[in-house]
Order: sequence, then structure tokens, then C-alpha cells
Amino acid sequence: MSPVELVARNDLYTDGGTAQSPLEIREMTVSYGDQPVVYSVDMTVRPGAMTAIIGPNGAGKSTLLKAALGIVPALSGRVAVFGRPLENARHKIAYVPQRASVDWDFPTRVSDVVMMGLFGQLGLMGRVRGLHQERVYTSLARVGMQAFADRQIGQLSGGQQQRVFLARALAQGADLYLLDEPFAGVDAATERAIINVLHALRDEGKTVVAVHHDLSTVRSYFDDVFLINRRKMGAGPIDQAFTVPALQATYGGRLAEGQVAQLALDAG
Ligand SMILES: Nc1ncnc2c1ncn2[C@@H]1O[C@H](COP(=O)(O)OP(=O)(O)OP(=O)(O)O)[C@@H](O)[C@H]1O
Ligand SMILES: [Mg+2]
Repeated sequence: MSPVELVARNDLYTDGGTAQSPLEIREMTVSYGDQPVVYSVDMTVRPGAMTAIIGPNGAGKSTLLKAALGIVPALSGRVAVFGRPLENARHKIAYVPQRASVDWDFPTRVSDVVMMGLFGQLGLMGRVRGLHQERVYTSLARVGMQAFADRQIGQLSGGQQQRVFLARALAQGADLYLLDEPFAGVDAATERAIINVLHALRDEGKTVVAVHHDLSTVRSYFDDVFLINRRKMGAGPIDQAFTVPALQATYGGRLAEGQVAQLALDAG
């Protein structure tokens, strides 16, 4: 390892420290073919904050999360989770994938889906104990789905499934929550239920990162924003980074005029 790499590594992986970033990404480049879809992206997530990842369809938002988690390989880049290499910190992360990417045709009970969140703690040969069942039901109750524990997951509506995935993440007891479009296709009541749970997590000191499409709620839901269109287009607290010029740069001509006007008004 060259001295430069050594410095870079030491810079990223540090022990302890109260202000340690839950997720730090450096120079991440990801490509499925010839062209990178995520290009040299740096990201530093603020501990205890709620961060929205925003950008147009195909901007590389899902890919960035997947590459950070090692689900898709990166061409280059480094990731630190709470100052540690990903392999040593996986148990601290809960991930809820974009809903369309999950196929629930095979029969699985809702309570078993949530139980999957506990596998890290049960261990390979672990036995399911009362304590674990309790945790499953508390998590389902937090998202208002306790009455559905014995239903097949495939028999739930999309919004109900989304709540169950959140329950699974809650059961895991993670410190960092990565959610890919948690509000996609859910009704207003489910959206409210989900945002309340996410805000409660933040109030407990957990860190939440969510891919988000609705620009009109970014300001009220989130603390920080990360703008991406293949490259990082901006990042920081909402007041500083969620600006009309930054959005125009990120979305190009894809923002409607009315949207821009409203966002400018909201910014005051
Ligand atoms: N498995 C894959 N193989 C090849 N190309 C892919 C694959 N997954 C994504 N892509 C391409 O990579 C680009 C980024 O996709 P990604 O899913 O990360 O975008 P996104 O920002 O999450 O978009 P959306 O808002 O539609 O969810 C797109 O052009 C997409 O077509
Ligand atoms: Mg996506």
C-alpha cells in the first residue's frame, strides 16, 4: 500500500469519536457497462440527521446506496460506516430497498419477514425465543401492522408491504437506516405513519438516509439534502443546499416552472 493510500485509509477509518459519520463515501464510481452511472461521488452523512437523496430518474440514487452496501460492485471508491470498514459494521445498518425491486410471490408470513431483520442477532443456528417474537410484534405495532402478523406478505397492498419492510428494519435495531423511496406509491396516511416513525428514530439519535422524489416535502421532512445526477450536485443542510439553482443544475430542464416558483417561495 502506498503512503498516499495509507493516509487516505487512516483518514476514513478512525476509532470512536462522538462526531463519527455514520456513512462516509469517497470517490465512488460505479458502472454496469461502459459508462459510469455514479461518477466519483463523495458523501458524508451527518450523525443523527435525516438526509434526503434527490435527483431525477436514472441519476444513480439506488446504485449509490447499493454500492455503499456492497450489493453492487464499485469500480473504485471507499466506504466507512461509523468509521469502520463496511464488513465490520454491517449489523449497524438497516436497508429498505426500492419496493419495485422486491418480488414477494413465494409464501412468507409478515411476522417471518420482520423476523428476518433479527437474523444478524439470532445467528445461523439461533433459536427463535419469546424475546424475539416480542421484538417482531413491537416493530409491527410501531408501523400499525400488528393485526397483519399472520398474513402472507404477497397478500398485502403495496403501502402495507412498505410498512412491513420498515418494521423489519426497526426489529434489527440498527443505528443507520437507508431507505430507497419509502414513500413511493403509498397513500397520505401511510406516508404520515412512515415519516412519524422516521422522525422518532431521529429523535432517538439514529441516522436516516432516504431516497426521496417529492420536492415539496423535502423541507418539512428532512434536515440535510444530497443532490445527485450521476455526479454529486450539492449537499448540506436544507437551508444551504436545497436551493433553486442547485435543483436546476441537478434536474436540468426536468423541473416544471411551477415547481421552481413554489420552491423559490418556500425558500423565502
Ligand atoms: N442492474 C443494472 N444493470 C444495468 N444498468 C443498470 C442496472 N441498474 C441500474 N442501471 C442503470 O443505471 C442508471 C442508474 O440507475 P439507478 O437505479 O441507480 O437510478 P435511480 O436514481 O435510483 O433512478 P429512479 O429514480 O428511477 O429509482 C440507470 O440508467 C439505470 O438504467
Ligand atoms: Mg432508484
